[in-house]
Amino acid sequence: MNKIKVAVMVSGGGTNLQAIIDACKSGIITHAEVALVVSNKKSAYALQRASDNNIPSVVFTKKDLGSQEAFEKAIITELDKRHIDLIVLAGFLSILSEDFTRRYSHRIINIHPSLIPSFCGQGYYGLKVHEAALERGVKITGATVHYVNEIPDGGEIILQKAVKVNKGDTPEKLQLRVMKQAEWKILPEAIELVSRELLEQGGNK
Ligand code: GRF
Repeated sequence: MNKIKVAVMVSGGGTNLQAIIDACKSGIITHAEVALVVSNKKSAYALQRASDNNIPSVVFTKKDLGSQEAFEKAIITELDKRHIDLIVLAGFLSILSEDFTRRYSHRIINIHPSLIPSFCGQGYYGLKVHEAALERGVKITGATVHYVNEIPDGGEIILQKAVKVNKGDTPEKLQLRVMKQAEWKILPEAIELVSRELLEQGGNK
């Protein structure tokens, strides 16, 4: 079957990458395959997960490449070489330029650990998102998968899933619940949804 080639971009533990890999194995994802993992951190455990699953990976750092432009050029070269159709940001903590997001318009999706438009945008990532939710005292939070454009967390929303905030939650406990109950479910679902759409549009030329 024709499958959408996905590149997953990571910076950390890779639990979202693992959820995608598992979803490909369990049949939740049938119209896409993970063809590449790209990290901006040599130490990202996500790279071990890629290796354990025989998925090619590359590491590019702005430090090694000297500039944002060289960093993005290296990534684009790799994506083109492998005929990547869809980019998934899964805990990727590096800024991508407007040029980059325009080049891949409606072909980059991101998982954000809140119900956008709450607790998103500049400076809201990882634990900081959950700290802000607890600080505000919301009773419901969750996760959002959205298209990536030039505005941080500003692209069209694809899927969302709500998660209850429990009394006595710490940021760490809340983060884990949001991952388990929301992120690890809606990111694979969104990949399958977007991949079917791309295939219908003949999107994996
Ligand atoms: C998660 O908190 C996710 O919401 C955010 O970055 C973190 C990445 O986690 N996008 P992992 O690397 O997928 O485990």
